[in-house]
Amino acid sequence: MAFWFLSALLIVGFLSKSNLVEAQLSDEAALLAIHRELSVPGWSDNGTDYCNWVRLKCGGANNSFVEMLDLSGLHLKGNATLISDLTRLKHLDLSGNSFTGPVPASFGDLSELQFLDLSLNRFVGRIPVEFGSLRGLKSLNVSNNLLVGEIPDELMMLERLEEFQVSGNGLNGSIPQWIGNLSNLRVFTAYENELVGEIPKGLGLVSELELLNLHSNKLEGKIPKEVFEKGKLKVLVLTQNRFTGEIPEEVGICSDLSSVRIGNNELVGAIPRAIGNVSGLTYFEADNNSLSGEIVAEFSKCSNLTLLNLAANGFAGAIPAELGQLMNLQELILSGNSLFGEVPKSFLGLGNLNKLDLSNNRLNGTIPKELCSMPRLQYLLLDQNSIRGEVPHEIGNCFQPSSWIIAFRARKA
Ligand SMILES: *[C@@H]1O[C@H](CO)[C@@H](O)[C@H](O)[C@H]1NC(C)=O
Ligand SMILES: *[C@@H]1O[C@H](CO)[C@@H](O)[C@H](O)[C@H]1NC(C)=O
Ligand SMILES: *[C@@H]1O[C@H](CO)[C@@H](O)[C@H](O)[C@H]1NC(C)=O
Ligand SMILES: *[C@@H]1O[C@H](CO)[C@@H](O)[C@H](O)[C@H]1NC(C)=O
Ligand SMILES: *[C@@H]1O[C@H](CO)[C@@H](O)[C@H](O)[C@H]1NC(C)=O
Ligand SMILES: *[C@@H]1O[C@H](CO)[C@@H](O)[C@H](O)[C@H]1NC(C)=O
Ligand SMILES: *[C@@H]1O[C@H](CO)[C@@H](O)[C@H](O)[C@H]1NC(C)=O
Ligand SMILES: *[C@@H]1O[C@H](CO)[C@@H](O)[C@H](O)[C@H]1NC(C)=O
Ligand SMILES: *[C@@H]1O[C@H](CO)[C@@H](O)[C@H](O)[C@H]1NC(C)=O
Ligand SMILES: *[C@@H]1O[C@H](CO)[C@@H](O)[C@H](O)[C@H]1NC(C)=O
Repeated sequence: MAFWFLSALLIVGFLSKSNLVEAQLSDEAALLAIHRELSVPGWSDNGTDYCNWVRLKCGGANNSFVEMLDLSGLHLKGNATLISDLTRLKHLDLSGNSFTGPVPASFGDLSELQFLDLSLNRFVGRIPVEFGSLRGLKSLNVSNNLLVGEIPDELMMLERLEEFQVSGNGLNGSIPQWIGNLSNLRVFTAYENELVGEIPKGLGLVSELELLNLHSNKLEGKIPKEVFEKGKLKVLVLTQNRFTGEIPEEVGICSDLSSVRIGNNELVGAIPRAIGNVSGLTYFEADNNSLSGEIVAEFSKCSNLTLLNLAANGFAGAIPAELGQLMNLQELILSGNSLFGEVPKSFLGLGNLNKLDLSNNRLNGTIPKELCSMPRLQYLLLDQNSIRGEVPHEIGNCFQPSSWIIAFRARKA
């Protein structure tokens, strides 16, 4: 046992020495200084095999430069500025640490950088204008910090950007027009900031745009039809802003659009019938707007729909029986409208429906006792309608009372 241990030590010692000779690491001094400053767990002051240190990868001629540094999720504190001495970095992930103070402007000197994630720290101040020099950058994430000020115009030079994420800060000003000139952009998230103004129409020029999330800002104006025109959009989240105008008919061009969340705005008009074209639609949430007209039966063509929330709008008319074809539907929330007629019997076939909220409408008729046959239904809210009669005896018997909220007081006159 003792002999084996000794030989193992010798072998390890030998390997380290030979690798050092080969590596000729130029970033050695920088790494040692970074470790002295940040105390990276798993890095050893005296292990000389730097390229084998955890959370980094070397590259370049003779493997002599650090190209990848992933210090994510280590709760590190200290001065991150020293990292910019690793001048050949292509990939730098400092997300999920406890860095404070200004974002090091010297990261703008890392001319080979392609990926930079500084999210989930406590960086303050502005996004450094120096980041405009990072011409090779494909992904920039400064989300969830304490950044203020405007998105700097210098970033318009980042023509390779595919992902640009600045959410969860205190950024103000408007979304720059030049975002529409970033022709490789796939992901743009700026939610939970103080942004004002309109969505630049130019965003529609971004041919690759798949994810646009701008919720919880102070944005206004119309949802530009251009945003849908390239047809690649998959996720659109604009909840909790001050958007006005109608939902553009062009939404129907985006057959891969799976999630539309546009609640808590001031949208008006009818839902475009073209919504039936959006075959991949999974979530559609447009509650708390001033939408009107009928609830379009075309939703029934979106066979993957699991959530449809149109609550607190001005919808009128009967609930389309066709919605009973939506076999994947889990939540149907149509409360707070002016819907009338009866609860369609076709809903009884919705085997995955968990929540049905039709409260605060003008529905009449009675509660069908066949609701018993809906295996997943846990929440049924029918209060404030003109539904008459008793809760069918069968309902009380066939469900766990604890898993139910049944309310159907008559609507107050
Ligand atoms: C290596 O580092 C450890 C602690 O980090 C220390 O106790 C030890 O003396 C060092 N060895 C040498 C040879 O420097
Ligand atoms: C790589 O290592 C070889 C041999 O040690 C050396 O001659 C060469 O100059 C090195 N190249 C660079 C770019 O450092
Ligand atoms: C961090 O270190 C750099 C030099 O590496 C220095 O210029 C800067 O002032 C330091 N920042 C703080 C907040 O100490
Ligand atoms: C950007 O940062 C946010 C917050 O940490 C995170 O949710 C998101 O996944 C990150 N994006 C990428 C592409 O890493
Ligand atoms: C934006 O934020 C910066 C920094 O907090 C502030 O100086 C500036 O007045 C703000 N601008 C607007 C228009 O609110
Ligand atoms: C963005 O593109 C438009 C049209 O393609 C062009 O007119 C405009 O000058 C460009 N803006 C910048 C800042 O490059
Ligand atoms: C519906 O989709 C078809 C092809 O998938 C397309 O030609 C048509 O323009 C779309 N209609 C609308 C209103 O978006
Ligand atoms: C409705 O949306 C507005 C923003 O348009 C928001 O201020 C309000 O709190 C929302 N109401 C509810 C009940 O969510
Ligand atoms: C519905 O979802 C499934 C599973 O995610 C997917 O394979 C299918 O293509 C989707 N259907 C449509 C019409 O998008
Ligand atoms: C329910 O309302 C519809 C439309 O308002 C009406 O035509 C129908 O007669 C009503 N049914 C009952 C049972 O009151």
